[in-house]
Amino acid sequence: MARRFFIGGNWKCNGTLKSIEDLLSTLNGADLAKPLPEVVVAPTYVHLAWVKSKLREDFAVAAQNSWIKGSGAYTGEISPEILKDLGIPWVILGHSERRTLCSESSQVVADKTKYALDKGLAVILCVGETLEQREAGKTFDTVAEQLKPVAGALSSWTAVVVAYEPVWAIGTGKVATPEQAQEVHAYIRSWLTDNVSPEVSDTTRLIYGGSVTAKNSAELGSAKDIDGFLVGGASLKPDFVEIIKSAP
Ligand code: G3H
Repeated sequence: MARRFFIGGNWKCNGTLKSIEDLLSTLNGADLAKPLPEVVVAPTYVHLAWVKSKLREDFAVAAQNSWIKGSGAYTGEISPEILKDLGIPWVILGHSERRTLCSESSQVVADKTKYALDKGLAVILCVGETLEQREAGKTFDTVAEQLKPVAGALSSWTAVVVAYEPVWAIGTGKVATPEQAQEVHAYIRSWLTDNVSPEVSDTTRLIYGGSVTAKNSAELGSAKDIDGFLVGGASLKPDFVEIIKSAP
């Protein structure tokens, strides 16, 4: 079945009022051909409601994380209920920076994913191997280990986009080749067939992240199982518009 191309922009821990105003003006002023791919940008929490109020209506916003439970005495956390109340439709979960820097295990990511979905958010679920894991021939095992608790926790995948982000390609300028990315995407699709269902495998969008730019997006996006991108650095620049324009 046709899967709508998905382009996420993860702004990470970046942005000033001025730089975001400039970026919004670039995005809002872009003349984009229809039908558009699905475009979702993820500013920091403190910029989220403001960006949502200023962003063109045919783009959506995502949070970069959400808490594992509901609102309560969890200092510094943001619950899916709070995001939902603000009208935020998407959340990124399991990004490698959170797995590594904030010690989020695959089980924690799975529990967060289930909770966010239960509260009505859609989830961009990130998986991917380190260079060490790739060189040890453990790319598929790593991705499977990250997906397994999610498959155990979820009863529906309709609001999930899976982002394959090889850690060695994130922010390094070392983009995976279309063949390398396609190989892992095909593996994820077959894993979903075997461990969830053929229907989920067929309908779930698998997007690639890791040094995507306007120079490599068209070639990556033409691979059979690449249904979009999660863009970091280039999503903070006018390049992001060119990446959107390159969608097949
Ligand atoms: O979430 C986005 C990814 O971490 C990719 O970041 O495009 O800066 O490599 P990057």
